[in-house]
Order: sequence, then C-alpha cells, then structure tokens
Amino acid sequence: MSSTYLFGHKNILGLDHLSVPDIEHILNTAESFREISHRAIKKVPVLRGKTVVTLFFEPSTRTRLSFDIAATRMSADTFSIAASTSSTTKGETLADTARNIEALAPDILVMRHPSSGAPHYLTKHIKTSVINAGDGTHEHPSQGLLDLMTVKEHKGRIAGLKVAIIGDISHSRVAHSDIIGFAKMGAEVFVCGPATLIPREVEKLGATVCSSVEEAVRDADIVMPLRIQKERQADPLIPSFREYAACFGINRKILDTARPDALLMHPGPINRGVELAPDVADSPQAVILDQVTNGVAIRMALMYLVLGGE
Ligand code: CP
Repeated sequence: MSSTYLFGHKNILGLDHLSVPDIEHILNTAESFREISHRAIKKVPVLRGKTVVTLFFEPSTRTRLSFDIAATRMSADTFSIAASTSSTTKGETLADTARNIEALAPDILVMRHPSSGAPHYLTKHIKTSVINAGDGTHEHPSQGLLDLMTVKEHKGRIAGLKVAIIGDISHSRVAHSDIIGFAKMGAEVFVCGPATLIPREVEKLGATVCSSVEEAVRDADIVMPLRIQKERQADPLIPSFREYAACFGINRKILDTARPDALLMHPGPINRGVELAPDVADSPQAVILDQVTNGVAIRMALMYLVLGGE
C-alpha cells in the first residue's frame, strides 16, 4: 500500500467534497484491496483493534452487509444498530445517540438516515469518523464510488464516456452522487425521467437533461435506470408503474440504441418489469452484481483511508 498521496479526509459525506485526486486515490486503493476477497483466507490485519459501528435508520441489504464484510476483511470489530432497536425510538435525539455511541470508543460510525444532511450534522457533535451510507435524497458516496470503480474495471477509463441515468432523479441519492462523480471524472452525464422527477437544479450538478429516453440512451456507454422511490413521495408523482414502464423502462429495444458494448448498471434494489425489463437485467451487458462485489473493496478503501492508511 505505498503512496505519496495524503488523503486527509476524516469523514466521507459526499462526492461533492472530494477532489479528482481524492477519487482517484480511493479507486486505486480499492483496486489494491479487491483481490483480498478472492483469497482462501479473506482477511488482512490493517484495521486490527479498530471498531466500526453501523447505524442504519433505513432498510438496506447491499450497503450495510458490504460495510460489515469490508470491516471484517480488514480485521476490524463491527457492531450494528438498527433504528428500530436504537433509543431514538424512546425519544433520544440523534446527537445524543451519537454521543453515547462515541462514549464506547468506536473508530468509525457508518450511518444511513432518511434526512438529508444527517451525517453532516453528526460531524458537528462527535469527533469519530463518520461515513455517509446514504442520507435522504442527498448523497450515497460509497455507491457513487463503487459505480465509478465498476465502470473503470470494465471500460478502462471514465473520461469521455456517455452515461445515461434514467428515472427518479429527484429522490435518488445515488443519482446525485453518480452525476457529481462521473462529471468530475470527465464523463458526459445525461438524465431523463418524468418531469415531476427531474430536479430543477440538476444541470448545476453537471448533467444534461434529455426530453426522451431515446435521446439519453442513444450511443451511451453506460445505461443506468433507477427505482421509483415511492417511499419518498408524499403524493404519487407518476400515474402508474405500468405507464412508467411503457415510457421510461429500459428494455431490449431501448438498450440496443446504446453502444453495442454498453454496460447496464443499477444500484439496486431492482423493481423488475418497472424500470428494467427482466431479460436485460439478466443479460451479459448487466454489471449489476459486479457493482455489489466492488462495494466491498470501495468500503474497505474508505475505512482504511479515513483512519489514516496510506
Ligand atoms: N444500493 C443500495 O444502497 O442498496 P441497499 O439499499 O440495499 O443498501
């Protein structure tokens, strides 16, 4: 693990705060960690004696398990608290919960929270390193980084690629981290979705808004449909899933208008038959499970680097 680059970030709150050299350093570090998961004994001692606490106030399969596995593979001790079993259900404030966790001397607190900005708020109350595992509709930095890593793995580069992100851009923290990350790394990002699900300010993040899926996907190198996040919509913002699938769903006909070697990505969870037709979800172009696999290496790199590893 030799490098002359000094990382210097104690918290990972979003890709917005990371420079291009930061992102390159995280990707390079993750690439060097990737082979550990293919060893017979999947463990290295780099975080031995360190403690990682994961605090999830929203459901998760991939992110939570991936942080747990990543910490375990680096020999850290990991402990998980779910919202339903934390004392916030008894009226304790988030800051008090975090201060009490900090009194138990963890080294890293990984948090997912339904409120945008909740991990940023925590950093004002505790000194422990905070890694954002998804905050409301704001950012999901480790997902954005694993998406960049997956593209780099398959394409050998990120700069100059056309990335099409389709669907519920407004409520997707993954879309926000991906737009910021891909744009910073020199890709061209195009978004498309129902007008009710495209935020007004999205072009400021670095994306171009397309008026049709055909325009967004044509000659794309990367096609990424997103799940409609019904749980974040107070009132329905699309008429029906059936209509959404007909207008914005990615099927074989649409995907064939992308470049022949285009990658199909999805952050998960997938709603088959809504944003993505089952046959393309399972096609050789889909790298959805590679994204999940790379999540472990990215989270290993993040935890290693925030604790001062070089
Ligand atoms: N991509 C993602 O965040 O998945 P989970 O909600 O399962 O963690």
